[in-house]
Amino acid sequence: MARRCGTCVALISLLIAVVPWPSVSAQHTLGAGSSLSVEDHARPFLVSPDATFSCGFLDAGENAFSFSVWYTHAADKTPIWTANPSAPVNGRGSKITFRRDGRLALDDANGTTVWESTTSGGGGGGAMAISLLDTGNLVISGPSTTTVVWQSFDWPTDTLVPSQPLTKDTKLVAGYFSLYYDNDNVLRLLYDGPEISSIYWPDPDNNPFQNGRTTYNSSRIGVLDGNGFFLSSDNFGVNASDLGLPGVNRRLSIGQDGNVRIYSMNVSTGEWTVTWAALAQPCSVHGLCGKNAICEYQPRLRCSCAPGYEMVDRQDRRRGCKPMFRTVTNCSLPASKPEQRYKFVKMPHTDFYGYDLWFYQSVTFEFCKKICLEMCLCAGFSYKFQGQGDCYLKSVLFNGYTSSSFPGTIYVKVPIDFDASPAHLGTARRSTAGGLACNPNDTVTIQGSPAMFRRSGNGTKWTYLFAFAGVLGLVDLIFIVTGCWFLSSHQQSIPSSLEPGYRMVAGQFRRFTYRELKDATGNFKEELGRGGSGVVYRGVLDKGKVVVAVKKLTNVSRGDEEFWAEMTVIGRINHINLVRIRGFCSQGKHKLLVYEYVENESLDKHLFDPDRTLPWRDRFRIALGTARGLAYLHHECLEWVIHCDVKPENILLTREFDAKIADFGLAKLSKREGATGDSSLELSHMRGTTGYMAPEWALNVPINAKVDVYSYGIVLLEMVIGRRVSDQTTAGGERLEMPQIARLLRQVVDTGNVVPLVDGRLQGQFNPRQALEMVRISLSCMEERCNRPTMDDIAKVLTACDDEDEHPAYRS
Ligand SMILES: *[C@@H]1O[C@H](CO)[C@@H](O)[C@H](O)[C@H]1NC(C)=O
Ligand SMILES: *[C@@H]1O[C@H](CO)[C@@H](O)[C@H](O)[C@H]1NC(C)=O
Ligand SMILES: *[C@@H]1O[C@H](CO)[C@@H](O)[C@H](O)[C@H]1NC(C)=O
Ligand SMILES: *[C@@H]1O[C@H](CO)[C@@H](O)[C@H](O)[C@H]1NC(C)=O
Ligand SMILES: *[C@@H]1O[C@H](CO)[C@@H](O)[C@H](O)[C@H]1NC(C)=O
Ligand SMILES: *[C@@H]1O[C@H](CO)[C@@H](O)[C@H](O)[C@H]1NC(C)=O
Repeated sequence: MARRCGTCVALISLLIAVVPWPSVSAQHTLGAGSSLSVEDHARPFLVSPDATFSCGFLDAGENAFSFSVWYTHAADKTPIWTANPSAPVNGRGSKITFRRDGRLALDDANGTTVWESTTSGGGGGGAMAISLLDTGNLVISGPSTTTVVWQSFDWPTDTLVPSQPLTKDTKLVAGYFSLYYDNDNVLRLLYDGPEISSIYWPDPDNNPFQNGRTTYNSSRIGVLDGNGFFLSSDNFGVNASDLGLPGVNRRLSIGQDGNVRIYSMNVSTGEWTVTWAALAQPCSVHGLCGKNAICEYQPRLRCSCAPGYEMVDRQDRRRGCKPMFRTVTNCSLPASKPEQRYKFVKMPHTDFYGYDLWFYQSVTFEFCKKICLEMCLCAGFSYKFQGQGDCYLKSVLFNGYTSSSFPGTIYVKVPIDFDASPAHLGTARRSTAGGLACNPNDTVTIQGSPAMFRRSGNGTKWTYLFAFAGVLGLVDLIFIVTGCWFLSSHQQSIPSSLEPGYRMVAGQFRRFTYRELKDATGNFKEELGRGGSGVVYRGVLDKGKVVVAVKKLTNVSRGDEEFWAEMTVIGRINHINLVRIRGFCSQGKHKLLVYEYVENESLDKHLFDPDRTLPWRDRFRIALGTARGLAYLHHECLEWVIHCDVKPENILLTREFDAKIADFGLAKLSKREGATGDSSLELSHMRGTTGYMAPEWALNVPINAKVDVYSYGIVLLEMVIGRRVSDQTTAGGERLEMPQIARLLRQVVDTGNVVPLVDGRLQGQFNPRQALEMVRISLSCMEERCNRPTMDDIAKVLTACDDEDEHPAYRS
């Protein structure tokens, strides 16, 4: 008995510990000062009065021990509670001490206190006691034995015993898995790994009510009773298969495999048998195989990699698989010709759960494939045809599983030169059901239980995904990274008449019926303006509370499916300098868009009206806001959006004269590489407005975002001069051509004398530094297109000379 005498407490415990024990295992209550050394682990610290439970040191590996409570007669001494589940103590020199201050403390050999009970209200004068009750609860009670100051039932580890409640404050944890009450009062199982977290029970494809749960009872309590009935306040109840059998010792535990089970002990042998399990199929637990891997269970759990991926660590399958090809690290860089760089490998009867970038319903396979190909973030897609095509785009291949009963197919995106033949796949499978891998040890027979993949089949996956967006950190991350997603984290009332494809943006963006919009606009009574793409009317929604602008599109020949697809992209674009789109209507020939209403008309009305003078400060702010809005469209959106018609008429002004760009996204959404000419920018006719159109429109060359830069340069110049650039004439009345204008601007930039150029209505009240910078930018925007700056560059330069506090120079 090697002991240290460092502190008084240790001294006292020494004195007490050397007193011989009256009898082996008789104690069920001890007073302060009691202790037990790990060397005496054969002897329990405490035994409950009826001897059902014992507590003391348990072997937890090589020369490692835990301080635990267990069923005395269990053959394997499975702990039902452990003080130090993740920090076992040394097999020599460690000890447990019930201190005078009422704390139970576990000290390691080197004197470190590894664990200590958070005893409260104890200490002081009276005598403290520690007892192991017949329920298995280890209790520290104060001076009067009825005051419980600490109990192990409040600090469960991975197990509940009968009568021990699971509450809002407690959870069962095993590795990355936990059983807990979620924010909506539902009892759930969560995988919370280093990279990703994901809920896997109850069936995440269903909402709580479809799973037979309720979210209304906030008491958040779950108890296993003495008969083997577990009841949870969310309406979940389950009977152990030996329900009602008297005198059976039971426990409910979460395992390292993520499953939750009820076990019953065979009294004669002390062996545990499973009398209930939360999940029938091991592979429905999330996170077992890590990223880019597929889980199989036949006859034991196995993980294999998706085609094109290889194991990160053969010893630890949870670390998943990594791509064998070079991946795109920066999705904001324009990629060229994705169809020449990627292809898809088919994996029938396979799915990856969660991490959907987007979901489309009623679409063709070709459509689904094309979208995934073009989306840099898309790692693969799931396509399922059951009367209609469901398309799920995956950002991460996670929680993969295969089952012959699963109707969907996964298509994994791999480089075009990737050889998908089995010989090169390593652990991945051939693309036929029941196929096998080339490594004989990885051979699998694909067979699944029909009960394994219950699917609601109506797209509730999205509902789930967003309902838990707060939990799923990665999902959030993706949305932040792409910047274009505007989604409320909770789905509110979604009219059931809406197709599930719109659920994803419900609340912010919705589909209207023609009738609704006709009513909202009073049969299209008040016209706000008209342009190339259609006529805009004023409308009111939500019983007059929200004013909107409704645009009736003309010349839209797109089919409904294509139109929807575009709207789902446009609908999630959200930036302070872009007019927010609230929804749309697509009913046969009626194609309408619903926008937020912007109070102060468009820029042209303020800039070109001889009776108005737009102050310099507003002009500069509008220039900056417009640049930022365009930069967002060009650089930050998931899809690369080219406006194609930048002009003062499309820059709307708020009450505070902030710019909001209208009409974006109406040109066909461009591909990332910026439209390769042929079919990628399917413009039925040239877009844009004379006077603002880049010269390359006239040439037979692919259009890219630089057309917007050109147009922006013209608008910027117009804000400086206060007139249309296209109306500029020479002294002789001849129209000034662009090369002449550029020469003029070059002179201004070279001499730095901007004054003669600036709008005379300002009467010299402007910031010459900003004006000169605007002229300089404008000039660079008129260059040959590869020399034009990007909108991002422009926004940066303007931001750098945005100085709200600077007083404008006064000149006469
Ligand atoms: C005691 O040992 C543990 C692990 O055995 C270690 O983590 C801790 O730092 C040590 N403490 C001291 C004071 O040496
Ligand atoms: C909530 O659940 C608890 C525990 O199951 C139950 O006792 C209580 O009656 C429930 N409350 C309501 C309002 O249903
Ligand atoms: C559990 O068993 C009891 C008694 O047989 C029965 O009334 C109850 O419906 C069962 N509950 C469940 C969830 O199976
Ligand atoms: C306990 O185990 C014994 C031996 O395996 C077996 O004969 C007996 O049926 C078991 N009892 C119960 C209740 O399962
Ligand atoms: C991605 O590329 C863009 C454009 O070149 C650049 O601005 C951005 O900083 C890059 N992001 C990362 C994370 O490298
Ligand atoms: C298959 O497994 C056996 C035993 O587990 C092992 O000896 C053998 O090397 C493995 N073969 C391959 C190709 O991994």
